[in-house]
Amino acid sequence: MVHPVVLDVDTGVDDACALLLAARHPDLELRAVTCVGGNAAVDQVVANTLTVLDAAGRPDVVVARGAERPLLEEAADARHVHGLDGMGDLDWPRSTRRADPRHAVEVLRDVLLEAALGRADDRVTLVPLAPLTNIALLLRTYPEVARGLRQVVFMGGAVDAGNATASAEFNVFHDPEAAAIVLDACADLDLPVTMYGLDVFYQPRVTREQAQTLIDTGNRGPAELAGRLIAFQCERVGADSATIGDAGAVCAVLEPSGVARRRLPLRVELAGTWSRGRTIVDRRDQATDLSHDPHGQSRVSADVCLEVDGDAYARLWLDTVRPDSVMPDTVEPGTRARDAVDQAQR
Ligand code: BDR
Ligand code: CA
Repeated sequence: MVHPVVLDVDTGVDDACALLLAARHPDLELRAVTCVGGNAAVDQVVANTLTVLDAAGRPDVVVARGAERPLLEEAADARHVHGLDGMGDLDWPRSTRRADPRHAVEVLRDVLLEAALGRADDRVTLVPLAPLTNIALLLRTYPEVARGLRQVVFMGGAVDAGNATASAEFNVFHDPEAAAIVLDACADLDLPVTMYGLDVFYQPRVTREQAQTLIDTGNRGPAELAGRLIAFQCERVGADSATIGDAGAVCAVLEPSGVARRRLPLRVELAGTWSRGRTIVDRRDQATDLSHDPHGQSRVSADVCLEVDGDAYARLWLDTVRPDSVMPDTVEPGTRARDAVDQAQR
């Protein structure tokens, strides 16, 4: 079965790993990529995203520019992690393409409303891998897009330790209000949500040797870029392997059985001196009496990934970025809308 997907990214070394997987896997139909400020400023994110899609051989994929800054916070990038250009300073030839003239929120609306016209298996899986600013704006402005959505699988949050702070994971930390709004809207709209957080994020890993094999394929293709992204991370922290990061959330769409998830009540901490932006996952025994708790139980729940088969996901990623991997069939822009109208008229 082919899964229609849209990625929302802040490319980002590991977003780039995710884009390579989503652009090249034959079981995914990548309908658009939307960009938001996060790891780098949004214009840099757009440039990085276009560059990765070119390297992946997918210049057909629509890319749109979204929010520059969080809803309330000042933007605070993570170039200390991702390099000055946000993508490992690889000196990679830059794309000459431009983003779609529409705002990311309008592209998301258009893609999802088009999906809503089609059959049930045409519904899109939305995969946010970045601060949730665009998605919060989308779901509050155009809640009717829920009809075109199958599920939301987002990278963000943590049951255990954070990374941006001791408590909070970067994507949620960067725009906590947006994350809280998205979870609230998903509960309102009855949309299934999977949280692929830091508890699993670091486990699918690729070694330096595997990265070098990819780099040796050369030709500025997807495998070489994939290898360079991993090598950059190994170099930065002085390790022999590096995570595929956000790409793991795409793996969770492709191979859902590779993660163990539990449906758990979830909140985003919006106050707190040292804990703002933390995802509070309620792992208490829900069978016990919680009536003494003045905060009660969150009305929002998500399928929280607690364990991952890291080797299986790393293998899936490696097999897909290899130069001889089978590419997805691409669809001419606008074809789906025409087909849906034809079908409705029949
Ligand atoms: C997340 O934050 C970003 O740095 C990564 O791209 C990933 O989405 C991990 O906290
Ligand atoms: Ca990211």
